[in-house]
Amino acid sequence: MSEDPNFVVELKGLTKQYGAMVALDSLNLDVIKGEILGYLGPNGSGKTTTIRLMLGLIKPTSGSVHIFGRDALIEKAAVHASLAYVPGEANLWPALTGIETLHLLAKVHGSVDETYRKQLIKRFELEPNKKVRTYSKGNKQKITLIAALASRAELLILDEPTSGLDPLMEQVFRETAAEARDRGQTIFLSSHILEEVEALCNRIAVLRSGKLVELGTLEQMRHLSAVTIEASFSSKPPLISHIKGVSNVVIRDKFLTCQVNGPIDELLAVLAQAKPLTLLSREPSLEELFLALYGEKSGKD
Ligand SMILES: Nc1ncnc2c1ncn2[C@@H]1O[C@H](COP(=O)(O)OP(=O)(O)O)[C@@H](O)[C@H]1O
Ligand SMILES: [Mg+2]
Repeated sequence: MSEDPNFVVELKGLTKQYGAMVALDSLNLDVIKGEILGYLGPNGSGKTTTIRLMLGLIKPTSGSVHIFGRDALIEKAAVHASLAYVPGEANLWPALTGIETLHLLAKVHGSVDETYRKQLIKRFELEPNKKVRTYSKGNKQKITLIAALASRAELLILDEPTSGLDPLMEQVFRETAAEARDRGQTIFLSSHILEEVEALCNRIAVLRSGKLVELGTLEQMRHLSAVTIEASFSSKPPLISHIKGVSNVVIRDKFLTCQVNGPIDELLAVLAQAKPLTLLSREPSLEELFLALYGEKSGKD
């Protein structure tokens, strides 16, 4: 049953076990209409499993998936009509050309914006008349991406869609994803590329060993890591190690760097009193947040 029309995807208590192995553990997650939700996690954390459950390709051990208010397991055809999916590894027909494949995928999907598709072929620099068997992983990825974007589906489910793309094409992907969002489409973007998620996503969900460990905007997640402060002075920098939340203080000649967790007013007051020549504060990048999240906890398990 649909709870809220603003939620395009509603996952409740979603669990998938393979024997004793829990690939996904009681996932509760909503995707809001018009957002790009970044779905981040290291290899094996359960991203693809989540997507396959959303698409009804595998059955959950327990829990439910609703997409556009419909039960994705029961009303599969209706659900699939309003979404497009880009798998991590494209399984295409080797004997068809790129353009033949795009035509076929458009037929399967049932809708295509042909003008936009032409434009996308140009922007992704796809050579459409070559046989798929001659394509690199990146080129196959371009085909499934172009097909998904050209369908103009309301919901795009993308499973690490840029893993085979070079940096230039990664940039084209970011532009087209932002365009889709600006048109009101919703994107579920699984990725392990932090920079991509940081550039594109409204909200970020972080998965670790099948469990959701963080969910929120980048701003909301900043509490996970410290702010870096750098200052320079005309003489010896002030003493700051005693201030609450301050760590990793390094003083070299007239330069000072440190990190601070929580409120920074006390630190700033001490620095200001010493009349700094320069003062710079830097918020943690998503990468630093990730290290804070995974770093000390032994990484793999
Ligand atoms: N068909 C399967 N049988 C057994 N284990 C599986 C199967 N599919 C996935 N897994 C396991 O589930 C976990 C999550 O995998 P996956 O969802 O593919 O992770 P990700 O996409 O984040 O890399 C992994 O440990 C993987 O080995
Ligand atoms: Mg995967």
